[in-house]
Amino acid sequence: MADFWQPEMEVQQIPRPCDHEVLTSGFDLGGLRLRNRIVMAPMTRECAPDGVPTLEMARYYARRAEGGVGMIVTEGAAPNEEGRFGRNVPRLYGADALAGWARVVAPVKAAGAAILAQIWHVGGFTPSMINMPDSLDVSRVSPSGLAATGYPVGTAMTTRQIARTVRDYGQAARQAREVGFDGVEIHAAHGYLPDQFFWSESNLRKDCYGGDIAARCRFAAEVIHECKAQAGSDFIVTLRISQWKQLDFQARVVGTPEELSDWLKPLVASGVDGFHVSTRRFWDQVFSSSGASLASWVRRLSGRPVIAVGSALLDRDFKAADGKKRGALSPRTLQWAADAIEDGEFDLIAFGRALLANPDLAQRLVSGEVAGLRDYDRSYLETLK
Ligand SMILES: Cc1cc2nc3c(=O)[nH]c(=O)nc-3n(C[C@H](O)[C@H](O)[C@H](O)COP(=O)(O)O)c2cc1C
Repeated sequence: MADFWQPEMEVQQIPRPCDHEVLTSGFDLGGLRLRNRIVMAPMTRECAPDGVPTLEMARYYARRAEGGVGMIVTEGAAPNEEGRFGRNVPRLYGADALAGWARVVAPVKAAGAAILAQIWHVGGFTPSMINMPDSLDVSRVSPSGLAATGYPVGTAMTTRQIARTVRDYGQAARQAREVGFDGVEIHAAHGYLPDQFFWSESNLRKDCYGGDIAARCRFAAEVIHECKAQAGSDFIVTLRISQWKQLDFQARVVGTPEELSDWLKPLVASGVDGFHVSTRRFWDQVFSSSGASLASWVRRLSGRPVIAVGSALLDRDFKAADGKKRGALSPRTLQWAADAIEDGEFDLIAFGRALLANPDLAQRLVSGEVAGLRDYDRSYLETLK
């Protein structure tokens, strides 16, 4: 896959449908049949009053399901109180929140899409770190009392706290199954709790949860195992991973394919059904030794299904200076995604901002009616359209 980025080369022409036909083909994700390769990426909207999903949220997700996506990964939802990012981020515990999720799930599935709940525990990452007000008064916990070097936050978790947190993830998975979700995605990317264990800068532990990359994987592996134990071995559990962190876009958990292999092995052994590989541009080269992307390496080394994400259909990544404000259509990225799937580099492609602007994106790609797709701009963040 190309490792360049030259917006000036942008071809202002939507590819013909036959060019990306593979995106419309079905896929088996650990036994879950998906009608196509198009996934809605998880996007926090902070529209759930005190953590309870609303009817407006149900309609927002239903629109994307009716619009043809194969699978939705919901916005991050907290497995327990100390893992919440903010008051209006949904919870995946408590009868009120679970009833709200049941209202979200039913119409999505009725429209033929699969749906995974993303489980998001922020650990030592607080809203104040990104200059947002902290709407909750909770004691934050993290592997070593750090969100990153120089960012002391919360207290280092005791092994008893770790065990309880792992159980909370499992309970969230079990309850997700009870309200009808097809599976869960563990948010282990972007510098949140499981990623704070992965990253050597935030994990200085001397016990069995710290040390080499295999030991730093132990927490996430226990979480995956517990989700399967509580929700059932046939309940889908995917893991979202990234090299970059909210606090450090240049951060690297691993620097070579060999290290990546060591990162993935314990996670595969724990029974994970797939990886969601989060990069800012899905086609970027990850190691200097090869032109392949991180998603492609993960696919190759894990042997598990892989969802790639990052700037599909758009000309700016979401962490670029103006990437949350706007993004113009970049059709050639769609072709790159189709080619990568065709070549077995990854299996599914997730769209974030492009699906905020175009709820019917998948249907248009499937039918070839792509003229009229809209650019993304920040107004789509202001409402749950
Ligand atoms: C408004 C917004 C909220 C997001 N919230 C989450 C989230 O809750 N969990 C997560 O893993 N990623 C989150 N992301 C990242 C997206 O899932 C995705 O990786 C990113 O937007 C890149 O995809 P895109 O270029 O197609 O938009 C968010 C992105 C945006 C724009």
